[in-house]
Parts: sequence; structure tokens; C-alpha cells
Amino acid sequence: MKILFLNGPNLNLLGQREPDVYGKTTLADIEKKVRERAADLKAEVEFRQTNLEGDLVGWIQQAQGKFDVIVLNAAAYTHTSVALRDAIGAVSVPTIEIHLSNIHAREEFRHKSLIAPVCKGQISGFGANSYILGLEAAISVNAS
Ligand code: DQA
Repeated sequence: MKILFLNGPNLNLLGQREPDVYGKTTLADIEKKVRERAADLKAEVEFRQTNLEGDLVGWIQQAQGKFDVIVLNAAAYTHTSVALRDAIGAVSVPTIEIHLSNIHAREEFRHKSLIAPVCKGQISGFGANSYILGLEAAISVNAS
């Protein structure tokens, strides 16, 4: 079972970026935790981050036939990107939307996710643990 974790803009700054909102854990720490849990669950994981929308679109397209599930923290593009939504809709790889913060408890512009309707489901508000929950959800999506 192969799971592709994709991270959008500014998530490379985790740990130093608004720690009161996103916590002090870095993306490298999160990747390490995800890899440890994935090893327990016998899943193979690839982990990527980009600040560019087009990279995310390309990676989603290329996941077809190569990965079983995508776990996506699209960051700010969650709220703006029709291109990402169309890419998710265009491939048959189930995608799970995740966020560190609870986007529904924040500014109004974050309440709307353009990608939610084409995702299997959404995990939001559990800090770094959203990634572990995303991994577990990915495995259960694949089993169902
Ligand atoms: C985020 C929430 C988004 O609204 C924000 O733009 C991010 C991070 C989260 O993980 O909580 O960059 O996706």
C-alpha cells in the first residue's frame, strides 16, 4: 500500500510559523512520525512539500496508477484553488484532506474548502496528529 503525502505553501516553515496556531513541530518531525507509524502499519509513504500550486497539480496527476491514496494538506490553496480541485477530481486516487488547525474555527475565508467536495473526507484541528489520523484514514479507505 503506497500513500502520497502532499504539503502546500508555507508548511516548510512549520515550527517557526505562527506556533500558537500550528504548534512547534517541524514538517521534518511530522514526516518522521508519519514514517514510524507507516512502518508499524506496513504502509509505504512518500512525503513532499512545495510552495507552488502547479507542483501540487502535477503530483496529483502523476499519482494515478502509482499511489493508492493521497493525503493532502493543501494549506492556503485549500481555499482558493479550482485547479487543485479539478486535479483531484480528474484522477481516481482517493484523496484525504488534512489540516493542522481547525479551519472551521478560524477566519471565515478558511471555512470554505474548494477541495472538500472531491475528497473522501477531511481531518482538521488535531495539530501534527492530523497527519497520523490522515495515514490511518488512508489505510482504512483502501481497505473499504
Ligand atoms: C492549514 C490551514 C490553512 O487555512 C492555512 O492556509 C495553512 C495551513 C492547516 O494545516 O491548518 O497554511 O492547511
